[in-house]
Amino acid sequence: MEKLTISAIKADIGAVGGHTKPSKEVLEEVIKTVKSNKDIIEDFYVGFCGDDIHIIMTHFNGINNPKVHKIAFDAFLNATEIAKNQGLYGAGQDILKTAFSGNIKGMGPGIAEMEFVERPNEAVIVFPADKTEPGAFNLPLYYAFIEVSRSPGLILSPSMRKGVKFVIMDVSYTEKDKIIELYTPENYIDIASLLFNPHRFVVESIWLRENNEPIVSVSTTRLHNIAGRYVGKDDPIMIVRAQKPFLATEEICSVFAIAHYVGGDTRGSHNMALMPVKLNSQASTYLCNPMVSCIVMSIKNGKITSYIDGFDDPIFDEIRRKASEKSFYMREQGFIMPAMLPMEEIEYTALKEKIEELEKKFTTR
Ligand code: 13P
Ligand code: MG
Ligand code: MG
Repeated sequence: MEKLTISAIKADIGAVGGHTKPSKEVLEEVIKTVKSNKDIIEDFYVGFCGDDIHIIMTHFNGINNPKVHKIAFDAFLNATEIAKNQGLYGAGQDILKTAFSGNIKGMGPGIAEMEFVERPNEAVIVFPADKTEPGAFNLPLYYAFIEVSRSPGLILSPSMRKGVKFVIMDVSYTEKDKIIELYTPENYIDIASLLFNPHRFVVESIWLRENNEPIVSVSTTRLHNIAGRYVGKDDPIMIVRAQKPFLATEEICSVFAIAHYVGGDTRGSHNMALMPVKLNSQASTYLCNPMVSCIVMSIKNGKITSYIDGFDDPIFDEIRRKASEKSFYMREQGFIMPAMLPMEEIEYTALKEKIEELEKKFTTR
């Protein structure tokens, strides 16, 4: 059976008046480029979450396919020209290299990909996020795939009962991908021991133990490491397959009701509550509160036949209120940690340099 691939590729190539959202013209250019390559792919979806544009493509070319990656890269590159002409803020922010060398990884944009034989009723959920980092998915994934009291499918589904494989990446290691494979249920304490630090250890993928089918894929780009300087946090994107033999759509989406604190926000230097937002939401001008959106889709014969906005319901209106409240509480802390991230996570150097200068003036007595 031919394998279908889903490639979710995202980049921030400029936004209106700050890190808000892309302009209409920039989005149109992205869509135009992707459309003109319809011979390579089966189908596509383009949207944005804050200032990040995501291109979701379905195709039969496998993961890491140069032709598919190039479609996204060309789309972002062409649209960057428009962003520059419009004077958008951070135009071309995530385009760190302009000469395409066969794989979009390491060039700036974030990517999550997954390859599988399509089920008769393939349900796939894509979570694009903004103003945060890939480790923002650690806690939701822990709750969904390990914590029975949050995720009934872990005891009700015969396949999920057999456990999953977590592939966790150490993103502090920059030379190569450095990963560890751990299995539920027996390694769950070890998994938790790593996920505890979402700035360093990030879930990269999750696989069904029963048959090694892929369930989750998270973008694990290390943008600032590639660039060697601060160019924004690595706003992530995640693909999750839902329904039999995996978890139910609602078991996966409901773990975002935590509105847990994540790193990111203003200048990528703060902790605030991750807010589940509607599709194509602009970033909040309230200190760039971190946000995650949710596209729930059905796929048949490689085509995205239909989709819904996963966080557009009254329950998630309540969660948005809760996230606002949690963020307001955190902001009462002002600049004192944990409202601000620890020094090693603050990418601007001015504060670090000043502290080093002041350190020299300390005396002992
Ligand atoms: P982005 O990473 O979304 O570009 O945001 C950067 C920032 O500094 C917001 O204050
Ligand atoms: Mg930006
Ligand atoms: Mg962004």
